[in-house]
Amino acid sequence: MIYRTKGAKETKDLAKKILNKIDRPNPKKGLVVALEGELGAGKTTFVQGLARAFKIRTKLKSPTFSLIKHYEIPQSKNFKILYHIDCYRLKDHRDLAVLGVKDILASPENIILIEWSDRIRPILPKKLIKIHIDHISQNERKLSINFY
Ligand SMILES: Nc1ncnc2c1ncn2[C@@H]1O[C@H](COP(=O)(O)OP(=O)(O)O)[C@@H](O)[C@H]1O
Ligand SMILES: [Mg+2]
Repeated sequence: MIYRTKGAKETKDLAKKILNKIDRPNPKKGLVVALEGELGAGKTTFVQGLARAFKIRTKLKSPTFSLIKHYEIPQSKNFKILYHIDCYRLKDHRDLAVLGVKDILASPENIILIEWSDRIRPILPKKLIKIHIDHISQNERKLSINFY
């Protein structure tokens, strides 16, 4: 599905709108939402919108330096913890192994949002939600969302 937004708020509102499609039980493992797009496309902005939709109150900052951040989800049909991973600084998936990412991906109570997910593709599940954000103009973005 393709959406267009004008401004960060609209991208956050869109995240809220698609929460219902995302927030459903995952029988076997964690749900991965893979975010692609250039620097400044709006990946972190989208994650912030989704965190707000889950009623997470902590202000979500980009994990560019910490790599992985996690937040307890107070209100969800399925998930307990939202993980936010930014692979921008990674060369490949082996860099993540030490951080216990396999365990994080294994639990069906986790939703894992991953920026620059292409860099760790070999360890991602085949079933994932893919969001590609294209920069159209200063405030316009095109979001292509593929549900599995
Ligand atoms: N339609 C839009 N959707 C998302 N962000 C937008 C939009 N228009 C402008 N912006 C701005 O673009 C920037 C996106 O930054 P960020 O979400 O950190 O990008 P990324 O994580 O992809 O590098 C923010 O400053 C945001 O306010
Ligand atoms: Mg970012």
